[in-house]
Amino acid sequence: MDISQITKQLQESISKADNEEALQQVRTDYLGKKGQLTELLKQLSRLPPTERSSQGAALNQLKIQATQDINNKAGLLSQQKMDAELLQDTTDISLPKYGRERGSWHPINTVRKRIENIFNSAGYETVLGPEIETDYYNFEALNFPPQHPARSLHDTFYFSDGRLLRTHTSTGQVRAMETKEPPLAIICPGKTYRCDYDATHSPMFHQLEGMLVDKDVKFTDLKGTLQQFINTFFGREMQLRFRASYFPFTEPSAEVDLLWEIKSSGKKETKWLEVLGCGMVHPNVLKSGNLDPTKYSGFAFGLGIERMAMLYYGIDDLRLFYENDIRFLSQFA
Ligand code: PHE
Repeated sequence: MDISQITKQLQESISKADNEEALQQVRTDYLGKKGQLTELLKQLSRLPPTERSSQGAALNQLKIQATQDINNKAGLLSQQKMDAELLQDTTDISLPKYGRERGSWHPINTVRKRIENIFNSAGYETVLGPEIETDYYNFEALNFPPQHPARSLHDTFYFSDGRLLRTHTSTGQVRAMETKEPPLAIICPGKTYRCDYDATHSPMFHQLEGMLVDKDVKFTDLKGTLQQFINTFFGREMQLRFRASYFPFTEPSAEVDLLWEIKSSGKKETKWLEVLGCGMVHPNVLKSGNLDPTKYSGFAFGLGIERMAMLYYGIDDLRLFYENDIRFLSQFA
Protein backbone atom coordinates (compact mmCIF):
# COMPACT_ATOMS: atom_id res chain seq x y z
CA MET A 1 0.00 0.00 0.00
CA ASP A 2 1.10 3.48 -0.84
CA ILE A 3 2.13 5.34 2.29
CA SER A 4 1.27 8.74 0.92
CA GLN A 5 -2.24 7.51 0.15
CA ILE A 6 -2.73 6.25 3.67
CA THR A 7 -1.39 9.54 4.98
CA LYS A 8 -3.95 11.40 2.94
CA GLN A 9 -6.82 9.15 4.03
CA LEU A 10 -5.76 9.46 7.63
CA GLN A 11 -5.64 13.26 7.50
CA GLU A 12 -9.12 13.29 5.96
CA SER A 13 -10.55 11.01 8.63
CA ILE A 14 -9.03 13.10 11.40
CA SER A 15 -10.40 16.33 10.04
CA LYS A 16 -13.83 14.76 9.46
CA ALA A 17 -14.07 13.41 13.01
CA ASP A 18 -16.18 16.06 14.74
CA ASN A 19 -16.71 14.42 18.12
CA GLU A 20 -14.74 12.34 20.58
CA GLU A 21 -16.34 8.99 19.61
CA ALA A 22 -15.63 9.54 15.90
CA LEU A 23 -12.02 10.39 16.68
CA GLN A 24 -11.72 7.31 18.85
CA GLN A 25 -12.92 5.28 15.87
CA VAL A 26 -10.16 6.78 13.68
CA ARG A 27 -7.61 5.86 16.34
CA THR A 28 -8.87 2.27 16.35
CA ASP A 29 -9.00 2.06 12.54
CA TYR A 30 -5.37 3.07 12.10
CA LEU A 31 -3.51 2.45 15.33
CA GLY A 32 -5.61 -0.23 17.04
CA LYS A 33 -4.61 -3.90 17.28
CA LYS A 34 -6.13 -4.57 13.88
CA GLY A 35 -5.65 -1.05 12.55
CA GLN A 36 -4.29 -0.35 9.08
CA LEU A 37 -0.90 0.92 10.25
CA THR A 38 -0.50 -1.92 12.70
CA GLU A 39 -1.23 -4.44 9.97
CA LEU A 40 1.30 -2.84 7.62
CA LEU A 41 3.95 -2.87 10.32
CA LYS A 42 3.27 -6.59 10.84
CA GLN A 43 3.70 -7.25 7.13
CA LEU A 44 7.14 -5.61 7.03
CA SER A 45 8.84 -8.93 7.72
CA ARG A 46 7.57 -10.26 4.45
CA LEU A 47 9.31 -7.58 2.42
CA PRO A 48 12.75 -8.05 0.93
CA PRO A 49 15.42 -6.63 3.22
CA THR A 50 16.26 -3.68 0.92
CA GLU A 51 12.67 -2.37 0.99
CA ARG A 52 12.13 -3.37 4.57
CA SER A 53 14.27 -0.70 6.19
CA SER A 54 13.10 2.25 4.11
CA GLN A 55 9.44 1.15 4.31
CA GLY A 56 9.81 0.49 8.05
CA ALA A 57 11.25 3.90 8.73
CA ALA A 58 8.49 5.59 6.75
CA LEU A 59 5.76 3.60 8.50
CA ASN A 60 7.16 4.35 11.96
CA GLN A 61 7.38 8.02 11.09
CA LEU A 62 3.75 7.90 9.97
CA LYS A 63 2.70 6.16 13.15
CA ILE A 64 4.34 8.83 15.30
CA GLN A 65 2.80 11.60 13.22
CA ALA A 66 -0.65 9.93 13.31
CA THR A 67 -0.56 9.59 17.09
CA GLN A 68 0.38 13.23 17.46
CA ASP A 69 -2.30 14.46 15.04
CA ILE A 70 -5.01 12.41 16.71
CA ASN A 71 -3.99 13.71 20.15
CA ASN A 72 -4.01 17.29 18.91
CA LYS A 73 -7.46 16.82 17.47
CA ALA A 74 -8.63 15.27 20.77
CA GLY A 75 -7.44 18.36 22.62
CA LEU A 76 -9.25 20.59 20.17
CA LEU A 77 -12.48 18.62 20.46
CA SER A 78 -12.48 18.70 24.25
CA GLN A 79 -11.83 22.45 24.20
CA GLN A 80 -14.75 22.92 21.79
CA LYS A 81 -16.97 20.77 23.98
CA MET A 82 -16.14 22.84 27.04
CA ASP A 83 -16.74 26.12 25.22
CA ALA A 84 -20.14 24.85 24.11
CA GLU A 85 -21.00 23.78 27.65
CA LEU A 86 -20.01 27.16 29.04
CA LEU A 87 -22.24 28.88 26.50
CA GLN A 88 -25.11 26.62 27.54
CA ASP A 89 -24.51 27.15 31.27
CA THR A 90 -27.20 29.45 32.63
CA THR A 91 -25.95 29.93 36.22
CA ASP A 92 -26.85 33.47 37.26
CA ILE A 93 -24.03 34.61 39.49
CA SER A 94 -25.92 37.76 40.44
CA LEU A 95 -28.60 35.77 42.32
CA PRO A 96 -28.55 36.16 46.10
CA LYS A 97 -26.78 33.29 47.85
CA TYR A 98 -28.78 30.84 49.83
CA GLY A 99 -27.78 28.88 52.92
CA ARG A 100 -27.67 29.94 56.52
CA GLU A 101 -26.39 33.06 58.17
CA ARG A 102 -23.27 32.43 60.18
CA GLY A 103 -23.93 32.51 63.92
CA SER A 104 -21.83 34.33 66.47
CA TRP A 105 -21.22 34.43 70.17
CA HIS A 106 -23.71 36.21 72.38
CA PRO A 107 -22.15 39.44 73.70
CA ILE A 108 -22.61 38.20 77.28
CA ASN A 109 -20.53 35.12 76.49
CA THR A 110 -17.90 37.18 74.68
CA VAL A 111 -17.51 39.46 77.70
CA ARG A 112 -17.55 36.52 80.08
CA LYS A 113 -14.72 34.87 78.10
CA ARG A 114 -12.83 38.13 78.01
CA ILE A 115 -12.99 38.41 81.81
CA GLU A 116 -12.14 34.73 82.26
CA ASN A 117 -9.09 35.07 79.99
CA ILE A 118 -7.75 37.98 82.02
CA PHE A 119 -8.03 36.07 85.30
CA ASN A 120 -6.93 32.73 83.84
CA SER A 121 -3.76 34.36 82.54
CA ALA A 122 -3.11 35.63 86.08
CA GLY A 123 -3.35 32.05 87.39
CA TYR A 124 -7.01 31.96 88.48
CA GLU A 125 -8.70 28.66 87.68
CA THR A 126 -12.26 28.69 86.32
CA VAL A 127 -14.63 26.51 88.38
CA LEU A 128 -18.35 26.06 87.81
CA GLY A 129 -21.10 25.31 90.29
CA PRO A 130 -24.74 24.26 90.05
CA GLU A 131 -27.46 26.84 89.36
CA ILE A 132 -29.89 24.96 91.60
CA GLU A 133 -28.35 25.28 95.04
CA THR A 134 -28.98 24.46 98.64
CA ASP A 135 -29.61 27.12 101.26
CA TYR A 136 -26.28 26.06 102.76
CA TYR A 137 -24.00 27.11 99.89
CA ASN A 138 -26.03 30.16 98.90
CA PHE A 139 -26.54 31.55 102.42
CA GLU A 140 -25.63 29.61 105.52
CA ALA A 141 -22.01 28.72 104.72
CA LEU A 142 -21.56 32.36 103.67
CA ASN A 143 -22.40 33.59 107.14
CA PHE A 144 -26.08 34.40 106.54
CA PRO A 145 -27.68 32.76 109.58
CA PRO A 146 -31.37 31.76 109.26
CA GLN A 147 -33.63 34.83 109.57
CA HIS A 148 -30.69 37.13 108.81
CA PRO A 149 -32.08 40.36 107.26
CA ALA A 150 -29.55 40.30 104.40
CA ARG A 151 -31.34 37.26 102.99
CA SER A 152 -34.34 39.41 102.15
CA LEU A 153 -32.18 41.56 99.82
CA HIS A 154 -31.77 38.62 97.52
CA ASP A 155 -35.38 38.12 96.28
CA THR A 156 -34.75 34.41 96.07
CA PHE A 157 -36.60 31.91 93.86
CA TYR A 158 -37.30 28.88 96.07
CA PHE A 159 -38.32 25.36 95.13
CA SER A 160 -40.89 23.58 97.27
CA ASP A 161 -38.20 21.24 98.64
CA GLY A 162 -36.23 24.19 100.08
CA ARG A 163 -33.62 24.29 97.33
CA LEU A 164 -33.22 27.55 95.42
CA LEU A 165 -31.85 29.16 92.27
CA ARG A 166 -28.51 30.60 93.31
CA THR A 167 -28.80 34.36 93.86
CA HIS A 168 -25.08 34.95 93.38
CA THR A 169 -21.94 33.10 92.28
CA SER A 170 -20.55 33.43 95.82
CA THR A 171 -21.83 29.83 96.14
CA GLY A 172 -18.52 28.95 94.45
CA GLN A 173 -16.51 30.16 97.45
CA VAL A 174 -17.17 27.39 99.96
CA ARG A 175 -17.47 24.77 97.20
CA ALA A 176 -13.94 25.72 96.09
CA MET A 177 -12.49 25.63 99.61
CA GLU A 178 -14.00 22.16 100.11
CA THR A 179 -12.11 20.73 97.14
CA LYS A 180 -8.89 22.76 96.90
CA GLU A 181 -6.02 23.63 99.17
CA PRO A 182 -4.61 27.15 99.58
CA PRO A 183 -3.03 28.88 97.78
CA LEU A 184 -6.36 28.93 96.06
CA ALA A 185 -7.22 31.28 93.21
CA ILE A 186 -10.50 30.68 91.43
CA ILE A 187 -13.12 32.42 89.37
CA CYS A 188 -16.65 31.12 89.17
CA PRO A 189 -18.72 32.56 86.32
CA GLY A 190 -22.32 31.72 85.53
CA LYS A 191 -26.04 32.39 85.66
CA THR A 192 -27.67 33.78 88.77
CA TYR A 193 -31.32 34.47 89.58
CA ARG A 194 -33.32 37.03 91.50
CA CYS A 195 -36.99 37.89 91.39
CA ASP A 196 -36.58 41.33 89.82
CA TYR A 197 -37.30 42.84 86.38
CA ASP A 198 -36.80 46.30 84.85
CA ALA A 199 -34.36 48.13 82.54
CA THR A 200 -31.43 47.36 84.81
CA HIS A 201 -32.56 44.09 86.42
CA SER A 202 -33.34 40.74 84.88
CA PRO A 203 -34.60 37.65 86.78
CA MET A 204 -31.67 35.77 85.22
CA PHE A 205 -28.33 37.51 84.99
CA HIS A 206 -24.66 36.61 85.01
CA GLN A 207 -22.03 37.08 87.65
CA LEU A 208 -18.41 36.21 87.99
CA GLU A 209 -17.00 35.45 91.40
CA GLY A 210 -13.32 35.66 92.19
CA MET A 211 -11.52 34.41 95.27
CA LEU A 212 -7.93 34.22 96.46
CA VAL A 213 -7.07 32.45 99.71
CA ASP A 214 -3.54 32.09 101.00
CA LYS A 215 -1.36 33.17 103.90
CA ASP A 216 -1.10 36.95 104.35
CA VAL A 217 -3.60 38.05 101.72
CA LYS A 218 -4.35 41.73 102.35
CA PHE A 219 -6.89 44.29 101.26
CA THR A 220 -4.19 46.00 99.16
CA ASP A 221 -3.86 42.75 97.17
CA LEU A 222 -7.58 42.99 96.43
CA LYS A 223 -7.32 46.64 95.38
CA GLY A 224 -4.34 46.03 93.12
CA THR A 225 -5.91 42.96 91.54
CA LEU A 226 -9.17 44.73 90.75
CA GLN A 227 -7.44 47.87 89.45
CA GLN A 228 -5.29 45.81 87.13
CA PHE A 229 -8.25 43.75 85.97
CA ILE A 230 -10.38 46.81 85.19
CA ASN A 231 -7.52 48.50 83.32
CA THR A 232 -6.91 45.35 81.27
CA PHE A 233 -10.59 44.86 80.54
CA PHE A 234 -11.17 48.39 79.24
CA GLY A 235 -7.73 48.67 77.69
CA ARG A 236 -6.85 51.90 79.48
CA GLU A 237 -6.09 53.32 82.89
CA MET A 238 -9.40 53.59 84.78
CA GLN A 239 -10.24 55.38 87.98
CA LEU A 240 -11.80 53.28 90.75
CA ARG A 241 -13.40 54.20 94.04
CA PHE A 242 -13.71 51.72 96.92
CA ARG A 243 -16.78 52.57 98.99
CA ALA A 244 -17.33 50.87 102.37
CA SER A 245 -20.25 48.46 102.21
CA TYR A 246 -21.68 45.38 103.83
CA PHE A 247 -21.87 41.71 102.84
CA PRO A 248 -22.29 38.97 105.45
CA PHE A 249 -19.47 36.93 103.89
CA THR A 250 -16.76 39.60 103.73
CA GLU A 251 -15.27 41.85 106.40
CA PRO A 252 -14.35 44.56 105.66
CA SER A 253 -16.51 44.90 102.56
CA ALA A 254 -16.56 47.42 99.75
CA GLU A 255 -18.41 48.31 96.62
CA VAL A 256 -16.29 49.45 93.73
CA ASP A 257 -17.33 52.34 91.51
CA LEU A 258 -15.82 53.21 88.17
CA LEU A 259 -15.45 56.79 86.95
CA TRP A 260 -17.27 56.72 83.62
CA GLU A 261 -17.27 59.40 80.96
CA ILE A 262 -20.60 60.10 79.34
CA LYS A 263 -21.02 62.33 76.32
CA SER A 264 -24.40 64.03 76.49
CA SER A 265 -25.27 66.66 73.83
CA GLY A 266 -21.61 67.37 73.05
CA LYS A 267 -20.65 67.93 76.68
CA LYS A 268 -18.41 65.47 78.51
CA GLU A 269 -19.70 64.42 81.90
CA THR A 270 -18.37 61.90 84.36
CA LYS A 271 -20.31 59.66 86.65
CA TRP A 272 -19.41 57.04 89.28
CA LEU A 273 -20.90 53.67 88.32
CA GLU A 274 -20.99 50.71 90.66
CA VAL A 275 -19.36 47.68 89.03
CA LEU A 276 -18.67 45.13 91.73
CA GLY A 277 -18.79 44.05 95.36
CA CYS A 278 -15.79 42.76 97.24
CA GLY A 279 -14.07 42.33 100.56
CA MET A 280 -11.86 40.16 102.76
CA VAL A 281 -13.29 36.67 103.22
CA HIS A 282 -15.08 36.56 106.60
CA PRO A 283 -13.44 34.23 109.18
CA ASN A 284 -16.73 32.32 109.48
CA VAL A 285 -16.65 31.63 105.73
CA LEU A 286 -13.06 30.32 105.93
CA LYS A 287 -14.31 28.05 108.73
CA SER A 288 -17.15 26.83 106.48
CA GLY A 289 -14.42 25.88 104.04
CA ASN A 290 -12.51 24.00 106.77
CA LEU A 291 -9.71 26.57 106.83
CA ASP A 292 -8.20 28.06 109.94
CA PRO A 293 -8.80 31.85 109.89
CA THR A 294 -5.78 32.41 112.12
CA LYS A 295 -3.58 30.87 109.43
CA TYR A 296 -5.26 31.93 106.22
CA SER A 297 -6.87 35.04 104.81
CA GLY A 298 -8.40 35.82 101.49
CA PHE A 299 -10.30 38.23 99.34
CA ALA A 300 -13.38 37.76 97.20
CA PHE A 301 -15.23 39.84 94.67
CA GLY A 302 -18.33 39.46 92.55
CA LEU A 303 -19.10 41.36 89.40
CA GLY A 304 -22.10 41.57 87.12
CA ILE A 305 -21.24 40.44 83.60
CA GLU A 306 -24.19 42.34 82.05
CA ARG A 307 -23.01 45.55 83.64
CA MET A 308 -19.51 45.04 82.24
CA ALA A 309 -20.95 44.22 78.80
CA MET A 310 -23.20 47.31 78.84
CA LEU A 311 -20.23 49.54 79.61
CA TYR A 312 -17.94 47.77 77.17
CA TYR A 313 -20.34 47.98 74.24
CA GLY A 314 -22.26 51.11 75.24
CA ILE A 315 -25.65 49.41 75.65
CA ASP A 316 -28.22 51.20 77.80
CA ASP A 317 -31.00 48.64 78.23
CA LEU A 318 -30.22 45.30 79.83
CA ARG A 319 -33.30 43.68 78.29
CA LEU A 320 -31.72 43.80 74.81
CA PHE A 321 -29.46 40.93 75.86
CA TYR A 322 -32.39 38.56 76.32
CA GLU A 323 -34.71 39.39 73.43
CA ASN A 324 -32.61 37.43 70.92
CA ASP A 325 -33.23 39.97 68.19
CA ILE A 326 -30.86 39.01 65.38
CA ARG A 327 -30.47 42.66 64.34
CA PHE A 328 -29.07 43.42 67.80
CA LEU A 329 -27.00 40.27 68.19
CA SER A 330 -25.41 40.32 64.74
CA GLN A 331 -23.69 43.61 65.59
CA PHE A 332 -21.37 41.64 67.88
CA ALA A 333 -20.37 39.01 65.30
N1 PHE B 1 -22.24 38.16 96.04
C1 PHE B 1 -22.29 39.59 96.08
C2 PHE B 1 -23.50 40.09 95.29
O1 PHE B 1 -24.10 39.31 94.59
C3 PHE B 1 -21.04 40.21 95.50
C4 PHE B 1 -19.82 39.92 96.31
C5 PHE B 1 -19.03 38.83 95.99
C6 PHE B 1 -19.43 40.72 97.39
C7 PHE B 1 -17.87 38.55 96.72
C8 PHE B 1 -18.31 40.45 98.10
C9 PHE B 1 -17.52 39.39 97.78
O2 PHE B 1 -23.87 41.23 95.37
